[in-house]
Amino acid sequence: MEIKYIEKVAQMNSGKNLKYAIFTMGCQLNENDSERICGMLEEMNYKKAEKVGDANIVVFNTCCVRENAEDRLFGKLGEMKRLKEAKGTIIAIGGCMMQEKVMVEKINNSYPYVDVIFGTHTLHKLPEDIYRVLINSKRVEDIIDIDGEIIEGFPIKRNDNIKASVTIMNGCNNFCTYCIVPYVRGRERSRNPQDIIDEVQDLANKGYKEITLLGQNVNSYLVSKKINQENISYNVVISNKNNVGNCNNQNYESIKEKECERLTVNSFATLLRAINRIDGIERIRFISPHPKDFTDDVIDAIRDCDKVCKLIHLPLQSGSTEILNKMNRKYTKEQYLNLAKKIKEKIPEVAFSTDIIVGFPGETEEDFEDTIDVVNQVKFEQIFMFIYSIRIGTPAEKMENQVLETIKHERFDRLKKLYEELVAERNKEYVSTVQKILVEGKSKTNSNVLTGRTESNKVINFEGSDELIGKVIKLKIVSEHMWYLKGEKI
Ligand code: SAH
Ligand code: SF4
Ligand code: F3S
Repeated sequence: MEIKYIEKVAQMNSGKNLKYAIFTMGCQLNENDSERICGMLEEMNYKKAEKVGDANIVVFNTCCVRENAEDRLFGKLGEMKRLKEAKGTIIAIGGCMMQEKVMVEKINNSYPYVDVIFGTHTLHKLPEDIYRVLINSKRVEDIIDIDGEIIEGFPIKRNDNIKASVTIMNGCNNFCTYCIVPYVRGRERSRNPQDIIDEVQDLANKGYKEITLLGQNVNSYLVSKKINQENISYNVVISNKNNVGNCNNQNYESIKEKECERLTVNSFATLLRAINRIDGIERIRFISPHPKDFTDDVIDAIRDCDKVCKLIHLPLQSGSTEILNKMNRKYTKEQYLNLAKKIKEKIPEVAFSTDIIVGFPGETEEDFEDTIDVVNQVKFEQIFMFIYSIRIGTPAEKMENQVLETIKHERFDRLKKLYEELVAERNKEYVSTVQKILVEGKSKTNSNVLTGRTESNKVINFEGSDELIGKVIKLKIVSEHMWYLKGEKI
């Protein structure tokens, strides 16, 4: 973290009433990176613009996991030309897409008014890049292919004051054959557990109620460290009386025993157990685990930790063993079903959500029916469905038997119909039950209505007063409306 560049830019910008705008594409990891970008921009004396037209700097944080993300970026970039001409707005583009050489070339060739191009490994250098643009008025390209170190101490401007994301690891080692992420985010690097716990503790002290632990493969947290350094384990310290001085390793000895708790973290399961001990946090979620790494210790930790939501995102991708093999997912249809069954046996109230790709190369009607079969058996609470999108440089790009677009869409529509039927069926089961919900705020469409979510991530709308925001309350579900349920106070 180059604090000195943040300070230099802040000084240059001081008193100028400058504004920023940011566009974020992609997953929650990118959203979390954008919160850091906003944190840095605010420390450099930029304030959030009400509308893009007012911005003196516009940052794009890009995604490249599927093709439609690219179309969106180039559409938006086209609109930036006028802004640049009108008021000299600085245009910066970062994120996953900028780790692809072809994309950087395209920007260099077709969008010469872009000032800064930065990558996923150089996020922390954005202040220096902006400084160089301000000083030289020359474009800066700051992308490296080497895995970035874990950087701590970023300023952060969070989007919400009840729910927060905490990235626990960067990168991915799995190389699913369709996926670009390992190429643009590098290998797995886990954050030190004490840094994670301190961040969650800080969020708890600030009144946050729900945290989501983020990583491309959260249940291999610390695994790659173990391979390199043999059975690594960390003694972490948790202060359970909110704000008992600095309850960290350095001055732990000087703090009274009863105010701190020392735990060992050496895996994802032990991290969950440690975070579950932090006072103030009411809900813990995590995405995404990989079915192949879903060990018993993780299941037991989810069962034992009262704050861990009993909704598990278990990405299926396909229900066909043959396609799963071609995808390099390292589990079969049966293994996936057995895992879901085992989890359900240990945690009867559990619900599952999932990601599914339709139309992977070579997917036959029979393969697709295997996917349908798993969906019918597991009865997912939520399904994120994607049409397979060719990613240049991945093994699946070169595979024969790419599925026709018309067939992909037809299968997608069939899956969507089944999903909607499952949602409607589940919704009926909710009616007349009592649910615990975390009240998140006012409804966007009706200011008399509050909105919140169940542990299983169902949106519940109800009438209530503002002081309930941020609280976990019990509601009776009175009616269902496809994508939300209506509740009443009891
Ligand atoms: N690491 C996470 C997900 C990362 S990307 C995991 O493994 O679950 C989010 C989702 O995008 C994936 O789960 C997958 O369903 C989808 N996806 C990734 N690459 C894709 C591609 N080339 N075409 C269509 N969907 C894709
Ligand atoms: Fe992509 Fe697979 Fe890694 Fe998820 S686990 S990010 S799908 S390579
Ligand atoms: Fe997209 Fe990068 Fe996330 S490619 S899905 S923003 S890791």
